[in-house]
Parts: sequence; structure tokens; C-alpha cells
Amino acid sequence: MSVDLAPLVPYFSDLRGGRPLAALTGAGVSAESGLPTFRGAGGLWEGRRAEDLATAEAFANDPVKVWRFYEWRREKVRAARPNEAHLAFARLEGVLPRMTLITQNVDGLHQAAGSRRPIELHGNIMRDRCRGCGTVTAAAPAPFATLPPRCPLCSELLRPDVVWFGEVLPAGSWHEAETAAEGSAVFLVVGTSSVVAPASSLGLLAARAGAHLFEINPEATPIAPLAEGVFRTSASEVMSAIANALGAR
Ligand code: OAD
Repeated sequence: MSVDLAPLVPYFSDLRGGRPLAALTGAGVSAESGLPTFRGAGGLWEGRRAEDLATAEAFANDPVKVWRFYEWRREKVRAARPNEAHLAFARLEGVLPRMTLITQNVDGLHQAAGSRRPIELHGNIMRDRCRGCGTVTAAAPAPFATLPPRCPLCSELLRPDVVWFGEVLPAGSWHEAETAAEGSAVFLVVGTSSVVAPASSLGLLAARAGAHLFEINPEATPIAPLAEGVFRTSASEVMSAIANALGAR
């Protein structure tokens, strides 16, 4: 099926010429790599409570339960490969002089596809962070032999280096994301339900600052009324079409 890019075409020459593009991605972008999204049928939060698995309180109460959930997700991430949507974002970096990729995803698939420096708002599931001394290390290639794992330096509990509900986003990443959104000429919101703050506010910030906002998602989300155009199909189809139209290899 071919995607009609007409609403975006008027901005292509500006973007090629150096006007800034920013994009915010969410779990929908990795869905076609076989990683479950969070909300909706089959989502990670179906039959599970985020409060029991993705908060500092849950971790303090039952670190083994929380780690089992993250080890299970890590195995899925280890087995996943970037899809055409991830590859299209990486290809675009080759033709757009100013492009900022902001992601809520913690799976590292944008980097695996070749995106040079995506802003990871919610951390990365394939890193461990010590709850005590704060040391961050890359996760081992295999699951831990015993749970919960402890820091080799200070013996405190290790946790996945992700942002949990109730925690603030890494300040530097958030500042960069806000700046990129507000400075963008075109802002793409791709594969996110746009319900988790503060990431969900980036599209609004961009639109208020004058960006042309587009949503790429098979389903409408709360950001849709602000969008100048919507593409109601998969991220891989639309992003590949955009990369091809811009001559990205
Ligand atoms: P959600 O699961 O909330 O939303 C995924 C979105 O992707 C939905 O709107 C789907 O319609 C859409 N979608 C599904 N398949 C798609 C495809 N092939 N192409 C394009 N879109 C598709 O995931 P996020 O919005 O990323 O936070 O969730 C935001 C945050 O909530 C996550 O980062 C996580 C979660 O709880 C934390 O863990 C802190």
C-alpha cells in the first residue's frame, strides 16, 4: 500500500535545506519488531498494574517480582531487531542536516538501526543502575543467575536504568527534548498513545511554538486535534515512505 504524503510534502525542501525536524517515538515503533506496547489489547499493562512493577515503591517492596518482569522484557529486547521504521529514522539522519530523535522507548532499537544519538527520555532497559551509589553499567548478555542482583561496588540493589512512574526524567535529556520540540519546523509524533506526561506534552510545546505537527499512528490519540495531518497506518510504512521521498538511502 502506498502512503499519501501530500500533507508533508510542502515541508520537504525546507527540511532538506536545514530547517529542523524533531520526532517523538513510542512503543508503537517497536511493535513491528515484536515488542509489546503498553496499552491496549496484548499490551504490557493488560492484566498487570504499573504500580506493582514500575515504581520505586514496588521495587522497595518486592525487588524480585520487579526484576522478573524486567528480565522477561530484556529477553524480548535481546531477541528483537530494528524494523523498517527504526531504519527509516536512521536513514533520515543522512539527508536532514538538523534532525532530533526523541524516544520514550527503552529498547535501544533506534541505536541498533543506526540512529546516532536518540534522546532516551525513559532510560534504557539494557543498563543496570545501582540504587545506592548510582553506578550505571551495561546489562550482561544473559539474565542474572540470582535475583535481585547487587552492585559489585557497594552491594546495594541494582535496578534497571529506566524511569519509573513518579520519577523525574533525566534533566539533561528533558531539556534537550523540550528545546528540540520548541525549535522544530516539523514535529512528528510516532507510535505513542500520548498519555504519559511529560513526554506527551512535547507535541503541544512544538505546536504552540509554531511547528507543523503530524501524528503517525493507526489510532487517534489526544494529540490528534492539534495535528496538521495524521497518517493512520503503521510507523514502518509511513516512515519508510518519508525516508524514500526525501531520497534517504
Ligand atoms: P503505548 O502502549 O501507550 O502506546 C503505543 C501506541 O502505538 C498506541 O497509540 C498504538 O495505537 C500505537 N501503535 C501500535 N502499533 C503501531 C505501529 N505499527 N505503528 C505506529 N503506531 C503503532 O506506548 P507509549 O505511548 O510508548 O513508560 O507509552 C508511553 C510510556 O508509557 C512508556 O514509555 C512507558 C509506559 O508506561 C514508562 O515505563 C515510564
